[in-house]
Amino acid sequence: MDTVTVVNHPLVQHKLTLLRDKNTSTAVFRSLARELSMLLAYEVTRDLPVTKVTIETPVAPMVGTRLDGKELVLVGILRAGLGLVDGMLHIVPSAVVGHIGLRRNEETLEPESYYLNLPPAIDQREVVVLDPMLATAGTAIYALDQLKQHGARSLRFVCLLAAPEGIERFHQHHPDVPVVTGAIDEKLNEKGYIVPGLGDAGDRLYGTL
Ligand code: PRP
Ligand code: URA
Repeated sequence: MDTVTVVNHPLVQHKLTLLRDKNTSTAVFRSLARELSMLLAYEVTRDLPVTKVTIETPVAPMVGTRLDGKELVLVGILRAGLGLVDGMLHIVPSAVVGHIGLRRNEETLEPESYYLNLPPAIDQREVVVLDPMLATAGTAIYALDQLKQHGARSLRFVCLLAAPEGIERFHQHHPDVPVVTGAIDEKLNEKGYIVPGLGDAGDRLYGTL
């Protein structure tokens, strides 16, 4: 998989535009985030390991394809990453789910950790980390550091929007982790928000504006 994949599909871009609109309600924002995570699931699972299996259809025997190895791990970065977990689970229902609680200190813009719960044998599983926003990348870098410290070896990161500065910094720290995103926006502003972006993803998902 490429280092950065922008999913430039009309459905993704249509839904992202609705998501960004400041007049979109919390309920619609939540549905759109779920739908977008399903569409991005398709791209981020593109190179999962598979194995050949022999089955019988009602008509004839055939050799088909199945996902191989232990169940995929989805890791949602609390809180906004939760908005992407459900949609991706809908596409990969066998996945198991981990959570990392991180919040960005709005003064220093540095991540602060408050929770960690990961499935067993993470070193033997493919891991997809979910967070709608890759801004300064401080949160994502910290989350990936934690996952690697706990043994994760094969990782991918999915977001809805990324800033160019965040992508560059993320790849300096984690060059081995491919990023799948709906768009790469123009820049970060002085408060570390993505421009034009969509505002605060967690607040828009949960109505805490
Ligand atoms: C948001 C977002 C990312 C982080 C991105 O979370 O969901 O986790 O900011 O910013 P960064 O790339 O500059 O680190 P936030 O800290 O607002 O917490 P929340 O999910 O609890 O709302
Ligand atoms: N976190 C958000 O929720 N939005 C941004 O634009 C940047 C960080």
